Amino acid sequence: MIPLCLSLQGKTLGENIALLKELKGHFDLAEIRADYLQEDQREELASFPARLDVPAILSCRRAREGGGCTSDEPTRLSLLEEGLKGSYAYLDLESDCLDTGLEEQGRAKGTRIIRSFYCRGKIPPELPALMKDRADRGEIPRVVMGLETSREQEELLTLSRRLEGIDEYLLLGEGAFGSPARILAGKLGAAFTYCTAAVTADREDEFPVEVMDELYRVREIDRETAVFGIIGNPVMHSKSPAIHNPGFSVIGMKAVYLPFPTDDPEAFFRLSRELDIRGFSVTMPFKNAVLPFLHEMTEGVAAVKSCNTVVRRGDRWWGCNTDVEGFLFSLDSWFPRGLSSVKTAVLGAGGAAGAIVYGLVSRGADVTVYNRTTEKALQCAEKYGCSWGSLRDFHREGDYPLIIQATGVGMHPHEESDPAPDYRFSGREAVVDIIYYPEETRFLRRAREAGCRTMNGLAMLKAQGVLQFRLFTGREYPPDL
Ligand code: ATR
Repeated sequence: MIPLCLSLQGKTLGENIALLKELKGHFDLAEIRADYLQEDQREELASFPARLDVPAILSCRRAREGGGCTSDEPTRLSLLEEGLKGSYAYLDLESDCLDTGLEEQGRAKGTRIIRSFYCRGKIPPELPALMKDRADRGEIPRVVMGLETSREQEELLTLSRRLEGIDEYLLLGEGAFGSPARILAGKLGAAFTYCTAAVTADREDEFPVEVMDELYRVREIDRETAVFGIIGNPVMHSKSPAIHNPGFSVIGMKAVYLPFPTDDPEAFFRLSRELDIRGFSVTMPFKNAVLPFLHEMTEGVAAVKSCNTVVRRGDRWWGCNTDVEGFLFSLDSWFPRGLSSVKTAVLGAGGAAGAIVYGLVSRGADVTVYNRTTEKALQCAEKYGCSWGSLRDFHREGDYPLIIQATGVGMHPHEESDPAPDYRFSGREAVVDIIYYPEETRFLRRAREAGCRTMNGLAMLKAQGVLQFRLFTGREYPPDL
């Protein structure tokens, strides 16, 4: 069990108290960020902890470390001194802010010092020794690292290996690449982890407290927790954590699945060994880039040169593509007698379309690929053994019991675009659109309104996730989720 600290960034204490009430039960500690408080509110800092029913941390972060405090140092320290008259459990002080007298004042009142070391991009070699020195004085050393690359992420997530002899420490990463450190704090042996109440668009490293508590169940994560994830760039808005984490919870598996922003798959494979990551999903732009790091792969991955699932088998990495399998699986209920000889039109000839064509052809479907750029349609047809045509002509060809829309046309923010605006649905077609944002594209809406059976990209995403879950856990995905 690792405590979750809610960082309060309201302008008034009243605002902060209201948040604490609303979110009660989701956190174990509260950090009051005095640097975000309005001037007049700062005078009431001392009375704040008594109004809480969880331990409180007092912190006032300077602008140069990304905080909101622009006062001069004596003013900032006297604010903390005033605040410390209240019953704070912890006081956060920077590593260059030594022997201020606040340490003494804190000790006398039973307030522990959290000693924050800020760094950017690289962890200084001497940092573990400096942290040990502070820990030996009864403080809790805290690393706050600004990071922007996989290499830096690897450095932060493996730092705990070098912190032997320090019982309590805190590790924070700032920026999207830092988010795994917040979720995996328990796995990394940290004393607690931080989150905020609401997340603004510019803070991709943080998840709101309910998400940390209910989706990632961070308070239950410890060194024994199995880690799974998804790599991609961008990846923070992936829907896959919302598929896998509830699944783990229902089957009672001690595991977590989280997004790993990545810019270098090789660094991530290294990190996976260090952190004992059991398996991960792969999304854009790495579905092809992971291939050189796999020891084994399915025929499908070798054929389409695209892998969306990597599973550790002993010491080896095995890759497969559940996009294709999940897609075929989700068609089973529409075509219970299989796809053999089913006339199928695939719109698009890009990476996603290619994987779909491969899957359909391998099941014996009679496929024609239609693409805006006809050379690509031809290449795709030659590669997978199917027919091809120009997207412009698709509306004249007609009579396909199965149509798969696999271009990016109609995706947010171009909701009004349609890849085949002149095509009139008869109502007898089964139509799949791989786009899931929006959930219903214009093309799919026209199909549904004409009476067709339709499936959107969310259903496919779920289907590939369900297969992936089986590969990750060896168990079936709970049917009622
Ligand atoms: P993905 O991996 O999602 O398939 P991709 O490989 O870039 O992405 O392929 C995008 C597909 O959408 C291609 O088939 C592309 O057609 P072209 O090969 O002619 O580029 C198709 N596409 C994208 N924008 C399009 C548009 N405005 N009209 C028609 N097709 C479009």
